[in-house]
Amino acid sequence: MWLSKSIVHLASLLPLCWLYYHAINDTLGADPVETVIHFTGIGALNLLLITLLISPSAERFKQPKLLKFRRMLGLWAFTYALLHLLNFIAFELQFDWSLLFSEIVERPYITVGMAAFVVLLLLTVTSVNRIKKQMGPKWQKLHNWVYIASIAVVVHFYWSIKSDIYEPGIYAIMLAWLLALRKLKIKRWLKIG
Ligand code: HEM
Repeated sequence: MWLSKSIVHLASLLPLCWLYYHAINDTLGADPVETVIHFTGIGALNLLLITLLISPSAERFKQPKLLKFRRMLGLWAFTYALLHLLNFIAFELQFDWSLLFSEIVERPYITVGMAAFVVLLLLTVTSVNRIKKQMGPKWQKLHNWVYIASIAVVVHFYWSIKSDIYEPGIYAIMLAWLLALRKLKIKRWLKIG
């Protein structure tokens, strides 16, 4: 198990090392800021979707061991999202906090991205075993918010694109499929149907 966990950690960490190595050496192409924001944003979304794929796969292929990877992948998704936000604050806004505030208020795609980030932050903070135990059944209810956050991220992606909506469209279809796999659970949670 430690070997497969190390592989997952390395597979998540190495792309970041590659990204920041090229960023530091100024070899990221014509628009390095856009590349860094794009890379970390897409990375966070990919990891979020992979995290959502774990429990249906564990069930379908009768591999409960897969569940052991869910938390670490979720934490890596958050790490990418955090870097995405920090890169935006550092390179696009030059740490102008009042500008960040006005971006959140005035640009709907940033508002939605920020909402998704706050949910991911709450899920990360409460992912510690001790807090999970203390929260009891409330923990599962809170962690169901990952579905809302994922929808918000896909909306954020779609709104951030000015022209070609092909890529966010593919992500929307993948997310719709992942949510459809847990239709009953979500209906029960929202008390519909
Ligand atoms: C915390 C608040 C967030 C801010 C301020 C933010 C900011 C941005 C910005 C500036 C862009 C580039 C738009 C452009 O090209 O003009 C972007 C794109 C994107 N963001 Fe975020 N984002 C946030 C949260 C998130 C989160 C939580 C995720 C995923 C978990 C995410 C995933 C993406 C994706 C997939 C893209 C499209 C990548 C691209 O094509 O450039 N964002 N975001």
